[in-house]
Amino acid sequence: MANINENYLKLPGSYLFAEIAHRVAAYKEAHADADIIRLGIGDVTLPLPRVSIDAMHRAVDEMAEPATFRGYGPEQGYDFLIEAIRETNYRRRGISIDADEIFVSDGSKSDCGNIQEIFGTDCRVAVTDPVYPVYLDTNVMAGRTGALGADGRFAGVTYLPCTAENNFTPTLPTERVDMIYLCCPNNPTGTTLSRAALADWVAYARKNDAVILFDAAYAAYITEEDVPRSIYEIDGAKEVAIEFRSFSKTAGFTGTRCGYTVVPKALTGRAADGTRHPFNALWNRRHTTKFNGTAYIIQRAAAAIYTEEGQREIRDMIAYYMENARMIREGLAAVGLEAYGGINAPYIWLRTPDGMRSWDFFDKLLHEAHIVGTPGTGFGPCGEGYFRLTAFNSHENTARAVARFAQLK
Ligand code: MLT
Repeated sequence: MANINENYLKLPGSYLFAEIAHRVAAYKEAHADADIIRLGIGDVTLPLPRVSIDAMHRAVDEMAEPATFRGYGPEQGYDFLIEAIRETNYRRRGISIDADEIFVSDGSKSDCGNIQEIFGTDCRVAVTDPVYPVYLDTNVMAGRTGALGADGRFAGVTYLPCTAENNFTPTLPTERVDMIYLCCPNNPTGTTLSRAALADWVAYARKNDAVILFDAAYAAYITEEDVPRSIYEIDGAKEVAIEFRSFSKTAGFTGTRCGYTVVPKALTGRAADGTRHPFNALWNRRHTTKFNGTAYIIQRAAAAIYTEEGQREIRDMIAYYMENARMIREGLAAVGLEAYGGINAPYIWLRTPDGMRSWDFFDKLLHEAHIVGTPGTGFGPCGEGYFRLTAFNSHENTARAVARFAQLK
């Protein structure tokens, strides 16, 4: 008889966005004519940059010829993409990252979920509350969290509340933790950590021999000059941090899948016998064992965004979404709703009116305004009373959604 991994039984029945899709489908089934505007899952709506499409066409043609056909590529990614990443995202910002510290993958969600495999199962995990569910759920699956309590929290996890009251900046834990997930710009709150706050976290990690798992999937959305784009802008971070980056929101790759993870060689962890080992070697071992590389065609598409034309195209694409973010922020303010984010991120985090519960507000919006958003509580107990809207839609739909908010009773 094969036993199951019982840790899975500790998880809520379905993944947040699957639950939302299910509820919306049920509503649509009963109200076929409802003109629903989707501001729920953070999925892009604009097509891929032209440079990426052209690069893919060329790569497809290469695959058709014996002389240029490619089979397995390097598991860590092709040099042409790694070099473009190093140059644009790091060297130009004064950060030196070696080529063998970058691991190209099929997206940041996979990497954020898989990274915990190279940590001991006895490591204590700290997550912000609210949090992108992948960080927490994958640690539940691995057995690192204990059971879910009646308060909606796992007994063995350190939660770092992030609410309007603390300006969405997590306070350093009083107990020792080993793995700290930070997402900046933040999903779901759309807020950022200041350079000083991030420096405090790096100092904490250095002092406590902890590792920061820094998700910078939304870095391209930062508009304010002083917000760090990479954790490696903070002195000493290379010894304590892993960074995740994504092409999904940066360049519209949600359906095309490409991301990368930086694991500096200076970052080490301890074995039970006290010896220290670089996480880079562990991640390389995992990557080469479980992954055969991102498709050549996709890597060509990703590399194309680092050309001058590609950079211009993605800047325009992001500006388009950020105009939606502005419309939503100002529209919510105009009807007296308190909202955060939307300046350095494509997410707007609003306080529900009259202290409504998040899922109640979800139902109200869906039923009365035909707008889909994401209930804050889906991201953690501190998300109760909040609600997330995304900027990923057309200007027209965003304007219509804002007008519907104004009509809401
Ligand atoms: C979200 O809506 O939070 C995003 O779709 C998350 C993701 O990129 O997986």
